[in-house]
Amino acid sequence: MPNTLDQSFVKNSPWKPDIFKGKVVFVTGGAGTICRVQTEAMVLLGADAAIIGRNVAKTESAAKEIAQLRPGAKVIGIGAVDVREVQQLKDAADRTVRELGRIDFVIAGAAGNFLSDFNHLSSNAFKSVVSIDLLGSYNTVKATFDELRKNKGAILFVSATLHYYGVPFQLHVGAAKAGVDALSNALAVELGPLGIRSNCIAPGFIDGTEGFARLAPPAEDGAPGMESKVPLQRFGTTKDIAESTVYLFSPAADYVTGTIQIVDGGIWHIGGFTNAFYPQAIISANSDPQSKL
Ligand code: HXC
Repeated sequence: MPNTLDQSFVKNSPWKPDIFKGKVVFVTGGAGTICRVQTEAMVLLGADAAIIGRNVAKTESAAKEIAQLRPGAKVIGIGAVDVREVQQLKDAADRTVRELGRIDFVIAGAAGNFLSDFNHLSSNAFKSVVSIDLLGSYNTVKATFDELRKNKGAILFVSATLHYYGVPFQLHVGAAKAGVDALSNALAVELGPLGIRSNCIAPGFIDGTEGFARLAPPAEDGAPGMESKVPLQRFGTTKDIAESTVYLFSPAADYVTGTIQIVDGGIWHIGGFTNAFYPQAIISANSDPQSKL
């Protein structure tokens, strides 16, 4: 399954090709696997886009490639932006308005992750992930709020299901994403009267993504793949996330705010992130008696 979209998405999808015509989406992490495909779907369906990232070359080249998807599409890549720095995001939002005219939709997707047990997770490492995922999401809305208010826009946070139950090796991300859900819910209530909607999308195992490569346990030779544990019997695709993204920004979701759209084939219900390695990996990680501060 390819990790990018092409014209066939428009031909085969239930969405009208121009439903986002004249709209602009601002996407942090837009050069990464999941958020890039969310951006591609929006662009294919008529939107212009600004993608924001830390890596200048990666962000600019992804923007150029995404712009090829639709004749006339304008996609700008704004690199050297760390979502932990609100002023850098504000500068990116200002440039987006200067070059693309407006911001209607915001995807707060920039995230940091790695597997670590508590024993080996330093206070600084915990702070890094919480700062990227949670403070970064807050900063993204802060920097784009004036445009969202003016255009009665919509926000989409990229969350996770890691905090619905205790997931070892992911306590830093779980804590951050629990905060992201709380942030989205409160914003839905506070900004609803201004005409701004706020929702989260919570991906599960999405094949071919950096997160999946970082988190999925290696398959044992001859053993049934992890996908056999997913109620819907397959891993997710970036297109699955893109389809939900389109729905949540589309007029079909005009009355939908303060929700969390889980796109995981049902796996969180069976503790999918924990079962594979619990508790053996925890016991081995703690054979080292010295905890990292
Ligand atoms: C333990 C680690 C570590 C590891 C880094 N650290 N990797 N600790 N195990 N594997 C620690 C470092 O030692 C350091 O702590 C602290 O984290 C900060 O690291 P820095 O290198 O200073 O960089 P910084 O830019 O602050 O950190 C970013 C990062 C990095 C999150 C640590 O991994 C990163 O840049 N990631 C960006 C890309 C990314 O993660 N994409 C995946 C997204 S997928 P000390 O104490 O030594 O100073 C995703 C999916 C989530 O988010 C949900 C899935 C369902």
